[in-house]
Amino acid sequence: MIQKQIHAASHWISFEQYMNLALYAPGLGYYSSGATKLGSAGDFVTAPELSPLFGRTLAHQLKQILPLLAQPNILEFGAGTGKLARDILLELEKFNVLPEKYFILEVSAELRQRQQILIANEIPQLMQKVEWLDQLPEQLTGVVIANEVLDAMPVHIIKWQNSIALERGVSAENNRFFWQDRPIRSPQLNTIAEELIHEINPNNLPDFEYLSEINLAAPGFVCSLAERLREGVILLIDYGFGRSEYYHPQRNQGTFMCHYRHHAHDDPFYLPGLQDITSHVEFSAIAIAAINAGLQLMGYTTQAHFLINCGITTILSQTAAEDTIRYLPQSNQLQKLVSPAEMGELFKVIAFGKNFNEPLIGFRSGDMTRLL
Ligand SMILES: C[S@@+](CC[C@H](N)C(=O)[O-])C[C@H]1O[C@@H](n2cnc3c(N)ncnc32)[C@H](O)[C@@H]1O
Repeated sequence: MIQKQIHAASHWISFEQYMNLALYAPGLGYYSSGATKLGSAGDFVTAPELSPLFGRTLAHQLKQILPLLAQPNILEFGAGTGKLARDILLELEKFNVLPEKYFILEVSAELRQRQQILIANEIPQLMQKVEWLDQLPEQLTGVVIANEVLDAMPVHIIKWQNSIALERGVSAENNRFFWQDRPIRSPQLNTIAEELIHEINPNNLPDFEYLSEINLAAPGFVCSLAERLREGVILLIDYGFGRSEYYHPQRNQGTFMCHYRHHAHDDPFYLPGLQDITSHVEFSAIAIAAINAGLQLMGYTTQAHFLINCGITTILSQTAAEDTIRYLPQSNQLQKLVSPAEMGELFKVIAFGKNFNEPLIGFRSGDMTRLL
């Protein structure tokens, strides 16, 4: 199907179009088809899959925000298997701060079905709180959360060589895909690629050739949220960096990665539709887009700082250390979530607010400045 599209488009599509088809082509794309995707039987493990401690801790941030809103709703994007929704709702139930509604917007029909089964089986008493949406509501009051959603949005690949930026795309011949670079057609992409030349600083490198990604979809996503949010907070969690680290001269092969059955590699042409393709998030672009769209940047920090600020160690201590069978696995999971060698530093949390001025507990300490 991708080959057909390539031939129909004069033998070239952008990598962004390739990634979009490989992940989201109806019925065939990785996120649109029946592949298992998340968890130990799938291709990769996310924080909510790793441990309920993640969602329980995030719930403490939500517990601070929800009572301050006129309509205390939660909207989760790309809810995966539904475990994050389950863990958040269970923790909020304990404190009697349940949202009016827990909306889920999921582009994958297969994951949506898994979410519905999990919620119905594991928290039947809260099933009526959860509502699946087909599109973004016109207006929204509440907290928006998205864990590892921005990294699943299709990216453009740009090759900078000397002072020229080209768009890397995909062509096909004899049943094989191959890379092909072309002049950048989109004026928006071209402007960003030219601006980034200063960041990358080609003078530092002899025989300069630099590859990286530009994600237009993720800032666009944040802008459409900004337009619709009346009052509330947006919390985005993902792996990535600010601009200077993302486009660091030494990161000259970009950040996109593929995952197939717990192996990470860099060949997006391997089993299209059956493997995940992702790229790291460039958080400066997200922050600039959000601020320009009228949102307030409320915090940006590592996952480790965020979870510790929200009390993850106190939540773990609710299980007695003497109860080793329950305590040890949880303490291992906490390590994975906060250790700098695992998810603690690479993953970041960024928060934006609209008509919401209360400082957020998750960013009490450890705020980072190298974003804007
Ligand atoms: C890597 S998975 C993360 C799943 C889950 N949040 C977790 O942490 O386990 C990416 C998710 O984002 C969803 N997704 C990607 N683009 C989306 C969009 N524009 N709107 C809503 N969901 C999206 C995918 O369908 C998938 O559920």
